[in-house]
Amino acid sequence: MSTTNPGLGEGPAGTVNPPGRDALPTVDTTRTVGRVDDAIYGHFLESSFFGNIEDGVFDEGSPLAITDAGPLTGMRSDVLELVRDLQPGPIRWPGGNFTSAYHWEDGIGPRDERPSRMEPVWNVIETNRFGTDEFLAWCEAVGAEPYLVNSCRDIDEAIRWMEYTNSRADTALTRRRAAHGRQQPWGVHYWGIGNEVYGRWQMGHRSAEQYAADAREHARFMRSIDPEVSLIGVGDGGEHWTRELLAQTPSMLDYVSLHRYGLTPAWAEDDYDQIVAQSLYMEREITRFAHLVADAAHASGWDRPPAIALDEWTMRHVEPRSWPDPQADPDGGTAPRELPPVPEWPDHLQVNRWSPRTIADALFSAGVLHAAHRSVAHDVPVAMANPVNLVNANGLVVARPGGAFRSALYHVWHLYARHTGRIVLASEVDGPARSMPVRLGISAGPEGEPLHEPMAVPLLDVSVTRAEDGSIRAAVINRSRADTVRLRPVFDRNQQSTPTRARVRTVGAGVEDLGAGNSLSRPDHIDTRELGEVDAVDGTWAIPPHSVTVLTFKGAAR
Ligand code: AHR
Repeated sequence: MSTTNPGLGEGPAGTVNPPGRDALPTVDTTRTVGRVDDAIYGHFLESSFFGNIEDGVFDEGSPLAITDAGPLTGMRSDVLELVRDLQPGPIRWPGGNFTSAYHWEDGIGPRDERPSRMEPVWNVIETNRFGTDEFLAWCEAVGAEPYLVNSCRDIDEAIRWMEYTNSRADTALTRRRAAHGRQQPWGVHYWGIGNEVYGRWQMGHRSAEQYAADAREHARFMRSIDPEVSLIGVGDGGEHWTRELLAQTPSMLDYVSLHRYGLTPAWAEDDYDQIVAQSLYMEREITRFAHLVADAAHASGWDRPPAIALDEWTMRHVEPRSWPDPQADPDGGTAPRELPPVPEWPDHLQVNRWSPRTIADALFSAGVLHAAHRSVAHDVPVAMANPVNLVNANGLVVARPGGAFRSALYHVWHLYARHTGRIVLASEVDGPARSMPVRLGISAGPEGEPLHEPMAVPLLDVSVTRAEDGSIRAAVINRSRADTVRLRPVFDRNQQSTPTRARVRTVGAGVEDLGAGNSLSRPDHIDTRELGEVDAVDGTWAIPPHSVTVLTFKGAAR
């Protein structure tokens, strides 16, 4: 099917920008910048955490739960199907903060014999009915690689966990695994050594020097259990932390982690522009960290530097602690409550874990994925990324007792994991931009106030990749809230390969309420539109306001 831009920008919502302000990505299809790792489309689940596991992935009492299926018994079938359809990259579990107090042996064996325990980090009861075998069986069912994180508080516990999941030897632990229904090793490839150990909010937080020594010991003995695994160290607790870690673990880690969050105040009347712009802050942080890791690895004699695992990130919707605690709404999002006015920036803030994801959050996320694409130009690229969270708690899949639906974010990951390529091509974009002070995520000044820095925010953010089938994929974010921007791609600089037809998939076109998310009663408010083959008009495609679009050019260039 071929059409002339139906619904792609000529609609009433958009104002076509004046001639001369088209966005011109110039793509050099002969120049490869690097390869995007599939693992940048990874995910994150945390136990005891706002419906991630209990009432999300796993809900034994639900009519939607799978029955009589060994470790998959009790998993929500609707959630499982939605996740499987994402073609997910590695899934990180059990935390997050939760991991610092977790004892994995509490979570194996017959469920009814497992101990319930006070969970001191999130201050809830952890039943342990969902444990290692459940998580690994679920990962297998959704087609994802598991990424397990230990507490890094007990080397024996860490290596026993690995022996239980990965060893082929005949030992007491592998016999227990077999007795629990799994003869063959699970073969877990990704292992994290602790979580945010630099922070007082972790059980067993410690100094850079202590953590680096512990990480070294863990890496050494974990590899003696399974030399093939990939190890992720806690990388970012400030410059000293990173340098100390790399100095004590030369060539022993495959990744170092980076956690970064955007921030939006829930009481702001309209924060759209700040939300979508903060992917520039995230990109700046990635670039700074990449240079720091490269330099520290060089100084400490690494054979080659570890890559970045951006294994926690999202846009945090924060609100005053003085507001009544947010609760889940059965239809999705936050249940209605009385909200007192907020006169100025409050002293004490908390994250609303039930706030729905809007189209602005979706554009922010796509911007961070573009930053990960561009990072392949660095010696230290982002080679894994895991947003907070996969199920519930501001995540991609929203599960409520009555059913599950795709949040706005789901559409972005589905679009990128499936429809962008993995080879990043050299491209430059000449297009409209706006200068503005951009909020620096959750960084705060002395009074807790948000920090900003002036930046030039391009209205169109374009990442061009080549897919396995040779086609060229242009992923395009239009950050403008109301203006259509025309995209005039130029291939190979000499313009001989300027494309004339593209297959178009777009998220966000036609969304009128920029502050609303999806819900069970309105699951498709933010949706993916498949527009089929679309012909260029005067060499351009009109990209709708507040949208994320992937154009596939088949046979357009080499
Ligand atoms: O929001 C998730 C929490 O944030 C994770 O548990 C922790 O690692 C981070 O501080």
